[in-house]
Amino acid sequence: MGAQVIDGKAFASGIREQIATQVNQLKSAHNITPGLAVVLVGEDPASEVYVRSKGKQTAEAGMKSVEHRLDADTDQQTLMALIDNLNNDASIHGILVQLPLPDHLDETAVINAITPEKDVDGFHISNVGLLGTGQKSMVPCTPLGCLMMLRDTLGSLSGCHAVVVGRSNIVGKPMAQLLLNDNCTVTMVHSKTRNIEDVVKTADIVIAAVGRAETVKASWIKQGACIIDVGINRIASKDGKSRIIGDVDFDACQQIAGAITPVPGGVGPMTIACLLANTLTACCRIHGLEDPKGLTA
Ligand code: GUN
Repeated sequence: MGAQVIDGKAFASGIREQIATQVNQLKSAHNITPGLAVVLVGEDPASEVYVRSKGKQTAEAGMKSVEHRLDADTDQQTLMALIDNLNNDASIHGILVQLPLPDHLDETAVINAITPEKDVDGFHISNVGLLGTGQKSMVPCTPLGCLMMLRDTLGSLSGCHAVVVGRSNIVGKPMAQLLLNDNCTVTMVHSKTRNIEDVVKTADIVIAAVGRAETVKASWIKQGACIIDVGINRIASKDGKSRIIGDVDFDACQQIAGAITPVPGGVGPMTIACLLANTLTACCRIHGLEDPKGLTA
């Protein structure tokens, strides 16, 4: 019997409905509309797709959506001035600068210029530190989405051995921290880990976030383990078009795992849902209101 395939698309749709309901309540009770500003520098096609999708779903959730598109040769000072404006704009509660930025721009300086309370990506050094010490923070969207799916699938994660494959600042590191905060025993493995297969084989939970197609093999998986595949790898298909596959060898791993997320339709849709969740959370916190229900770590 194959694993339960976790339907991220349906789960994300449910989360967006909950957000829309809470946004309506916020409007009627407090006359507040959450606002998200997305900044895109240059014309990276993949980023264009993400940004369009973010804008559409933000508006569908009843929030204000603002897009700032800047030329690829925009200088640091201009970008910093825009961030400063958005920091001081009371109608904006979330600011997201789409990464990667062109090489001539200082990404770290830009991220750390965003007011931490409006940092819906959770990348600001203050939010990283707050998460790392188990305090209330803005949590990066992709790991937050993974956590929500794990809790929904497994219930309590307490005592589970979670192995995070990959150590990026955007996914691997915050994911490990969130799992630790949920009382998992956490191991991080990466390209220099010895006997990676043996380590992953002991995992109850596997988070694959390496950025390389079908890296995690069936021989790495313990019977019944829960696999979350964060990978988005575009590969050429036989008909000359391209398709998206994950970091996990899905067909083979599905025979052994207890539950697994597909690509596409797993983690991807949850990331944008969590961006909307973070925007609502930021808005509530900025206005001194309670956190929205069921949408935070
Ligand atoms: N580019 C790819 N993923 C992300 C993300 O989660 N946030 C931002 N800001 N840029 C990205």
